[in-house]
Amino acid sequence: MRTKLKKFRENAQRNNVIEPGKSNYHTIRGQWAIDHFRNTNDIVLELGCGQGEYTIHLAQLDPAKNFVGVDVKGARIWGGSTQALQYQLPNVAFLRTPIEQLDQFFAVEEVAEIYIPFPDPRPRTRNENRRLTSPYFLKLYRHILKPGGFIHLKTDNLQLFEYTLEILQQYPEISELIYTDDLYQSTWQAVHHGIKTKYELKYLNEGVTIKYIRFALGKNN
Ligand SMILES: C[S@@+](CC[C@H](N)C(=O)[O-])C[C@H]1O[C@@H](n2cnc3c(N)ncnc32)[C@H](O)[C@@H]1O
Repeated sequence: MRTKLKKFRENAQRNNVIEPGKSNYHTIRGQWAIDHFRNTNDIVLELGCGQGEYTIHLAQLDPAKNFVGVDVKGARIWGGSTQALQYQLPNVAFLRTPIEQLDQFFAVEEVAEIYIPFPDPRPRTRNENRRLTSPYFLKLYRHILKPGGFIHLKTDNLQLFEYTLEILQQYPEISELIYTDDLYQSTWQAVHHGIKTKYELKYLNEGVTIKYIRFALGKNN
C-alpha cells in the first residue's frame, strides 16, 4: 500500500496529472488541444472524479474523445492516473483543482460534456452554493461548455436530486432534460455503459436507488 506522499511524488512525475507546481498548470487554459492532447477532439469532464471511473471507462469506449477527471484530492487522482497508464490511454488526463476554479483551466466553450457522479450533497442551506448543481456552478459550466453540451448528474441523494430539478426549472437555457429516481429500473441505464463508481457501489450495496438527471445547457443552435 503506497503512502499518500509516495502517490504525490508519482503524480509529480506523470504527464497525465496536471497539478500545482507543474509548468503547464497556469498555461493549460485554452491550450488542451495543442499542449496536452495534441488533437482537437471533444473534451469531456468528470467532476469530483475520485478515482476517475467515468474518465477511464469512457476513454476506453470512445478513443475519439478526450477525458479529464477533476478532483482536489491528489491521492484519489493517483488511482485514475495509474489506470490510464496501465491501459495506455493517451486521451485521459487528471486535473487537481477545486471545481470552483474550473474557468481558470478551461476557456470559453473548451468543454463538450460534463459528468458529475455522486457529488457531496451539501445538505445544509448555508452550503447551497457548494452543491455542484447550484446556480453558482451552472453559471461556471455554462461559461466553459460548448452550447448545447450535456451535463449528467448521478446521485444517491434524494434531496440533491429534487433540489437540482427545482433549480433547472428556473434556470434559463436548459433543454433535453431527462431524469429518473431509479436509474436501474429505467431505460436510461444504457447511457452509462455499466459504469459504477466507488461511491455508487457502496450505495447500491446499501439498497439505495440511484438517481440520474441529464440536461443540455446553453442554446444548441
Ligand atoms: C462523494 S466523493 C465521489 C467520488 C466519485 N465521483 C465516486 O462516485 O466514487 C466526492 C469527490 O468530490 C471531490 N470534491 C468535492 N468537492 C470538490 C471541489 N469543490 N472541487 C474538487 N473536488 C471536489 C472529493 O475530493 C471527492 O473525491
